[in-house]
Amino acid sequence: MKVFISRRIPEDVVRLLQQENMEIAYNNSDRKLSREELVEACLEADLLFNVGSADLNASFMESCKHLKGIALTSVGYDHADLHAATRYGIPVSNTPDVLSKTTADTAFLLMLATSRKAFYWSRQIERGAWKDNGFLYELGIELNRKTLGVFGLGRIGLELAKMAKAAYGMTVIYHNRSRNAEAEELLDARYVSFDELLEESDVLSVHTNLTPETQYRFDAECFRKMKKNAIFINTSRGKVHHEEDLIRALQEGQLWGAGLDVTDPEPMLPENPLLQMPNVCVLPHIGSATLETRTAMATMAAKNLIAVYHGGKMPQVVNKNVYEK
Ligand code: DGY
Repeated sequence: MKVFISRRIPEDVVRLLQQENMEIAYNNSDRKLSREELVEACLEADLLFNVGSADLNASFMESCKHLKGIALTSVGYDHADLHAATRYGIPVSNTPDVLSKTTADTAFLLMLATSRKAFYWSRQIERGAWKDNGFLYELGIELNRKTLGVFGLGRIGLELAKMAKAAYGMTVIYHNRSRNAEAEELLDARYVSFDELLEESDVLSVHTNLTPETQYRFDAECFRKMKKNAIFINTSRGKVHHEEDLIRALQEGQLWGAGLDVTDPEPMLPENPLLQMPNVCVLPHIGSATLETRTAMATMAAKNLIAVYHGGKMPQVVNKNVYEK
């Protein structure tokens, strides 16, 4: 079987595939391939090692229905049409767990940076505007003993909650489709309704997949229900919040601040008003971007393809019903 690797990955992971005697075609560069280039490369391959967030939609799946497996290098899989993949019998895998702590770190970083307007102050220095400001000029707010609300308390949300509790003694509340017994036992986390989450959180952090149910879940009505001194954090997907509504809520003082690792669209346009707000910190979707975590993610993706190569099932398959056919 031949595997196509769509972008540069750690050398050790390439070697892992080579040790299996797999035939490898490799875009050994950081350049994102165009749709046409990706399809063309896949037409020559049996397995796709998909690095990054290329849109693997229904038409891609149709063009590449001969594929025996697609390994994604992300925990989110909203960029792959799983129904179409299943229809053509293609198993698709993701990379859960290995990035939970790192992504939670990014949420924590944004929470703290936003609360202290850190990105704004850094921009001021770069602009040559470091001056003797007033005693009460652009003050931050503290996190100590505040309430952290988590929307989607799974692996990443749990890691964030642990850090928030340990660092600031924050009370943890959460809203999920199902209860998280581990969080309740470990952190005294309290399950609340969605409205209670909005009304009680001092920091509300979003950790959910993007699905038709969660798309634009955080809109004007939600922001109106939140505390005026609350901070909104999103490290999941940019389309989970309504960006125009968020901008307006911040401009009108319905919210105190926001920290975003994900935007809609990505990349965010440089003229986006969020980038000028003192109480907003934006990062370019770097949630899992450490050497250690990206290596672990690529290794996991490789192991899923190796399983297919040996005639087995992908351990991290996301369209599980593909194996029921
Ligand atoms: C993930 O793994 O889903 C990260 O957000 C990177 O896309």
